[in-house]
Amino acid sequence: MALYSEKVMDHFRNPRNIGVIENADGIGEVGNAKCGDIMKMYLKIEDDVIVDVKFETFGCASAIASSSMATELIKGKPVAEALELTNKAVAEALDGLPAYKMHCSVLAEEAIQNALEDYYQKHPEKKKE
Ligand code: FES
Repeated sequence: MALYSEKVMDHFRNPRNIGVIENADGIGEVGNAKCGDIMKMYLKIEDDVIVDVKFETFGCASAIASSSMATELIKGKPVAEALELTNKAVAEALDGLPAYKMHCSVLAEEAIQNALEDYYQKHPEKKKE
């Protein structure tokens, strides 16, 4: 069996939504304690919907594929749905990641959560309990 699924290879070779959003509404940056890799996520939010998302990473192939897939999963979705996104859901959407690479997908999840926190800090009125 191949180490990586075809979806992982596809997203690694052609990552979606790589780059920077100027004047992003939320920016999240996280590091992975296990490998030292870094991920940065930019969100553009209008009327509680994620209208655009981009990422930059110094991560491995799995981190690139996970972030690419994660951005696809939250783009055009309500903020509430993005808050629920788990690394497990991202890995499933990629048809699985090798077990020892699951921590790489956590980077994408955490960077999105972080960017949403940043958004709520800038727009406290948007926060619903
Ligand atoms: Fe660092 Fe995958 S090894 S993110």
